[in-house]
Amino acid sequence: MTITSTPAWAALESHRQSVGKSHLKDLFASDPNRVESLSLTFDGILYDFSKQRMTSETLGLLASLAREARVSESTERMFAGERINISEGRSVLHVALRRSAGPFPGSQFDVMPEVIETRRRMAEFAERLRSGKCLGHKGMPIRDVVNIGIGGSDLGPKMMGQALRSLSHPALGVHYISNLDAAQLAPLLQTLDPRTTLFIVVSKTFTTQETMFNANTAREWLRANLGDELVSENHFAAVSSKPERAVEFGVSKDLVFPIWDWVGGRYSLWSAVGLALMVAIGPHAFDEMLRGAERMDEHFRTTPFERNLPVVMALIGIWNTNFLGATTNSVLPYNESLKYFPSFLQQLEMESNGKSVSIGGEALDYATSPIVWGELGNNGQHAFFQLLHQGGRLVPCDFIAAVRSDFPLPKHQEALLSNCFAQSAALAFGRNESEVRASLEKESLSPKEIADLLPHRVFAGNQPSSTMLLSSLNPGSLGSLVALYEHKVFVQGAVWGINSFDQWGVELGKAVANRILPAVYEPELAKMLDASTQGLLNFSRKHLK
Ligand code: F6P
Repeated sequence: MTITSTPAWAALESHRQSVGKSHLKDLFASDPNRVESLSLTFDGILYDFSKQRMTSETLGLLASLAREARVSESTERMFAGERINISEGRSVLHVALRRSAGPFPGSQFDVMPEVIETRRRMAEFAERLRSGKCLGHKGMPIRDVVNIGIGGSDLGPKMMGQALRSLSHPALGVHYISNLDAAQLAPLLQTLDPRTTLFIVVSKTFTTQETMFNANTAREWLRANLGDELVSENHFAAVSSKPERAVEFGVSKDLVFPIWDWVGGRYSLWSAVGLALMVAIGPHAFDEMLRGAERMDEHFRTTPFERNLPVVMALIGIWNTNFLGATTNSVLPYNESLKYFPSFLQQLEMESNGKSVSIGGEALDYATSPIVWGELGNNGQHAFFQLLHQGGRLVPCDFIAAVRSDFPLPKHQEALLSNCFAQSAALAFGRNESEVRASLEKESLSPKEIADLLPHRVFAGNQPSSTMLLSSLNPGSLGSLVALYEHKVFVQGAVWGINSFDQWGVELGKAVANRILPAVYEPELAKMLDASTQGLLNFSRKHLK
């Protein structure tokens, strides 16, 4: 039986006939307690979902759906270390990475000793770098650290490093390189001193093409600049679940940090994949981030569905996607330091839940992950918000802001917050014809001018959004925020009946790229390829010369 044939799904379908069609204006007017009943707080975080097109009754029905989908049982199976990632035969234990103590998940299979030992080694290495005791060429202290990785081996630490940049070490540069396009690495290398630069090659598999290209180029750059005197081991550290490959590359065994097959790349920020982040913000702040995530894990595991932040957030997404028909979800941070948060969430949500077969392999006849996209909200207002306000499409939005600024200047923060709140209010309540007419009449326009302008000035409203307010951007609140989204994705995957922890969809592109690369050099090999690719290669070959 699929989730769509349950009584809870049917109840939501019929509920949609009434509430789904109500305007947010009317929903607010009919319930003076709406904000109290449709918002949650957690540890300095306010989650206001009163501007979603739903009521408390909707939430109750959605919670029944989660019960019918046996979300609690799935959660317990994850926390128990069962191999819930069945297509890869793996446990899913990223929650272990932020636990303070073991045994976990159990005394038979306890991952905590190696987790804690790795944390200790990371902290020791990060402190050595931060205190100038980690030496590069001829005893010169390392001044710049470059994280080379892609996807989960880049987005998490880069996003969090930017979010916590107010805590960054003042003298140590920490940089992130992911793109195969040399236009990312080449300009960075021009600013770096090879004698005082250390690269952290982060790759779970240590075979990812982009990462290996960039790591090899980094090694060539060191060789070209330091010649025979290069001691490669002074300039590389690595994070991998294949340590032997890192050692073979030239990384000292002592500077290879492990990750395990029970950590998915997009869930690995908390592991040694976060090493560059720890170098930037220090082990203490890193630990606070883990504690924030651990508090969210506890909340997620123990709180009844209707008050459970990740569950509620997940269910709202399901309501919007499967019952109201939304196909996208926009993430709009009102904080410059959260500028990488939308791209982090894109991987987390779309790589996890962008699936159209069930965990058992049956084709699904309902939608799963929406297309997640977003941009800094204040910039977006002057770019794509026009479509959100008047484009006529349903685009649920997540507004995210920190109340206190991490880089304050007089009066900026108040103005920024009022813009954030104004946008969600305007999207929700719009401006109807009579309101527009009244305001145009004040502008002493002729009746014809008013009639002509009217349709252009009307805002339909009813665009749903949630607003997440953090009291400030700090390691704890951000740890909680990221864990919240991780569990949201988990709950959605459990309700949709899919495996959120594999990513077979990215494999085909990798395999095809490996077939095309030799054909760039060897025209004969292109003959095996499709006509379009041959045409693209012919054009490229001419211009590569
Ligand atoms: O492209 C898919 C992917 O496997 C992601 O899931 C992962 O985060 C990324 O590539 C990087 O993989 P690795 O850490 O093995 O280099």
